[in-house]
Amino acid sequence: MKTQVAIIGAGPSGLLLSQLLHLAGISSIVVERQSREHVLGRIRAGVLEQGTVDTLKRAEVGGRLERDSQTHDGFFIAAGETACRIALGELVGKSVTVYGQTEVTKDLMDARIATNGQLIFQADNVVLGDLETSEPFVTFEAAGQRHRIACDFVAGCDGFRGVSRGSIPAYHRREFERVYPFGWLGILADVPPCAPELIYASGPRGFALASMRSATRSRYYIQCRADEDLSAWPDDRLWHELQLRLGPVSPGAIATGPAIEKSIAPLRSFVCEPMQFGRLFLAGDAAHIVPPTGAKGLNLAVGDVHYLATALDAFFNGGNEAGLRRYSEVSLRRVWNAERFSWWMTTLLHDFGDSDLFAQRLQRAEFDYVLGSRAAQTALAENYIGLPYEDILA
Ligand code: APR
Ligand code: PHB
Repeated sequence: MKTQVAIIGAGPSGLLLSQLLHLAGISSIVVERQSREHVLGRIRAGVLEQGTVDTLKRAEVGGRLERDSQTHDGFFIAAGETACRIALGELVGKSVTVYGQTEVTKDLMDARIATNGQLIFQADNVVLGDLETSEPFVTFEAAGQRHRIACDFVAGCDGFRGVSRGSIPAYHRREFERVYPFGWLGILADVPPCAPELIYASGPRGFALASMRSATRSRYYIQCRADEDLSAWPDDRLWHELQLRLGPVSPGAIATGPAIEKSIAPLRSFVCEPMQFGRLFLAGDAAHIVPPTGAKGLNLAVGDVHYLATALDAFFNGGNEAGLRRYSEVSLRRVWNAERFSWWMTTLLHDFGDSDLFAQRLQRAEFDYVLGSRAAQTALAENYIGLPYEDILA
């Protein structure tokens, strides 16, 4: 097999890259370890920045998104019984779009299939090679046979546990990590949301988030122990806990119902530098992880892919290598901004369970500052709606 760009991973990053390259007349093959059903079954976050929506529209997958999404002009943060609305529209003149990542993945997958995109599922033992030459390759096994893709570039879009990052020799990369002493237990259910906007609530029992997918589908999370056992949380117990944590600030009753999905995710901050090695470029979770508190995971991935697609387009269609040379540096600037914000919001709202009373008072002071300062709220809003993209070709 031969293609211009071999893409490892069919998550949102890999699919979006493949779609943008297709629209620029650049060929790609996407190699995915899991089945298509498995990829489409994953439940992830659901808040899109305007830049993400614009990129998805440019990728010609904006139809259903425009029809089925909600526009949110604000959200709430709360501590105990005190809630504060961060009025995005008023503070920074922008809004965010609520639309599930699962739907984004489906829209992208449908678009690639409609345009005869080459997607290979259930590929085992993916290996990347000759990355420092101008003729890299990818090999994999499918249906008991070994295959080889000769390509010009490899895009590592295979998430945090993929093979791409590890294909960069250890002496060429630095990894930066912070693991938080808690996780998030999430539930998705077909019940109306308790509030028309998201509520990020901290309190003595720990953090909770009220989110949604539509007027009839809710997504809730609670902070839990990092090693929490899901079986210890039957639906009733989880609804009761949500009531205790969100009840004091929720404008409406928390409607309960059977879980469509329930899972626990650890919280982690992680960055790999650089995001390039020879002709391998990392994008999305393969290069960085943020805790979900700032809703930045998917938005960062889309930012990377926007830069990478722009750089590859300039290279193949204009003979301009500047974007590829600057990819890692430009992406990492955006990544570290989001890392800082996600860490900050996580620190502001979670119970760290520590006996450090000084840290507890600082957290309270930080919250009071946000509550009372329009400047602080503006900074929060500016980061939440997402910082603008740089011109990678400048
Ligand atoms: N070979 C091929 N595919 C692989 C391999 C491998 N060795 N390892 C992992 N993959 C696949 C996974 O099965 C998955 O489908 O790569 C894909 C990576 O997708 P995601 O983990 O969704 O990562 P990404 O596309 O970068 O999306 C980032 O997803 O995880 C969330 O919070 C994150 O919202 C962010 C977004
Ligand atoms: C979600 O709806 O799943 C969601 C929303 C906001 C977040 C994280 C997750 O910060």
